[in-house]
Amino acid sequence: MASYLIRGGRHLRGDVTVSGSKNAALGILAAAIICDGPCTIDNVPQVSDTMAMIDIISDIGAICKLEGNRLEIDPRGIQDARVVSERARDIRASYYLLGALLARLSSSDIFLPGGCNFGVRPIDLHLKGFEAMGASCNISHGRIRLDAKQLHGANIFLDKVSVGATINLMIAAAKAPGRTVIENAAREPHIVDVANFLNTMGARIRGAGTDMIRIDGVSSMPGRRSYSIIPDQIEAGTFMIAAAVTRGDVCVHNLIPKHMEPLSAKLKEMGAVVEEGGDFIRVYIPEGRHLSSTNFITMPYPGFPTDLQPQAVVLLCHAEGLSRMQENVWTSRFQYVEDLKLMGANIDVAERTCLITGPAQLTGSLVQARDLRAGAAMVLAGLSAQDETEIYDIFRLERGYENLVEKLTSIGANIRRSDISTLEVERNLK
Ligand code: UD1
Repeated sequence: MASYLIRGGRHLRGDVTVSGSKNAALGILAAAIICDGPCTIDNVPQVSDTMAMIDIISDIGAICKLEGNRLEIDPRGIQDARVVSERARDIRASYYLLGALLARLSSSDIFLPGGCNFGVRPIDLHLKGFEAMGASCNISHGRIRLDAKQLHGANIFLDKVSVGATINLMIAAAKAPGRTVIENAAREPHIVDVANFLNTMGARIRGAGTDMIRIDGVSSMPGRRSYSIIPDQIEAGTFMIAAAVTRGDVCVHNLIPKHMEPLSAKLKEMGAVVEEGGDFIRVYIPEGRHLSSTNFITMPYPGFPTDLQPQAVVLLCHAEGLSRMQENVWTSRFQYVEDLKLMGANIDVAERTCLITGPAQLTGSLVQARDLRAGAAMVLAGLSAQDETEIYDIFRLERGYENLVEKLTSIGANIRRSDISTLEVERNLK
């Protein structure tokens, strides 16, 4: 069981470069299997979630060649709609293969998806959409099976804004004869990226990035093109917050400043300096200035992203006065607060809101990466704490951050990965 060991208290300084978006990559890798020919995808982050997706699609017959961050996918050998790879249980995004296999083979059969545990995570909206497009759905023994004699376009209204359902239905509709309209669609940057990828490969999708997406099904998608994935909004935000909580001065490169607006606005409001360029943002706090308290509410894009919520709570621990974080997307996404309290944070949680009284002097402790972004919050807490922090269960963190230790080290952090955690040593001694 590997862990991260962080000696906190260093001011991070320098330049760091963001990798490709994990969540866009997962949608795009699934979408690639509906092409009629091979394609090349650049800027694929080498994180365990994307590696799992590559394994799963290879297992059903795609030929995948990954060199660095460039992936060539040839899906022409995919004949079997049944996904048996156990790795499909590990990642949430395996559910994109429901839509993708339905588009390619008119049926799909896959494990119910896994992923981070932050409360109930239904997929009813995905299934209702597939049914509207002519598929029948059967769930039994932990698996979902979809069958369609002939998939067709449909008008679909999503009762709730869902990133996953929007992407999944877009993929399924790309080759379904007729027009599909998705209303109340999610607008996250990676939805636009998946739509751009599909269009590059031959699909006809309009309106991605708005709440109404129109898809005119095409009879073939030749592929044979290359596409480069957008930068990871959440990784970029994590580094921006790292600069603020360590009172450092970091320039985060290869990001899209527009995607960062919800965070940039809050950092400025709290007293940080945020300087934007074409594809970079520099964050620092002027000498002698204290961070001031504020309130956050997580919302679908363009609101503040729930996937930056735990990291932002660490930021609020360093602000003077009472701050509030309201989690509007997930029902249970504050479990990690227990770990922050171990480190000295003063936080009260009531259902989907937490109240943070700062500034807190955090001190190192043994803490857990309870999920991917909670793990990122622990890293930020450790970087800004006195003494040593050890984070265990970092396999969850490594689902979504490429070369995190190397990147943080390059801007002055004292962080290393250990293959054996203190917990394990203690267990072995007992
Ligand atoms: C994606 C992201 C995840 C992020 C989330 C919200 C990936 C792989 N994961 O998850 O990191 O936290 O978006 O930005 O991209 N809902 C339903 N029924 C459904 C689907 C969703 O009720 O069929 C609800 C969920 O319970 C939740 C809300 O809708 O309350 C948003 O979920 P959704 O946007 O679908 O999240 P994911 O796509 O699973």
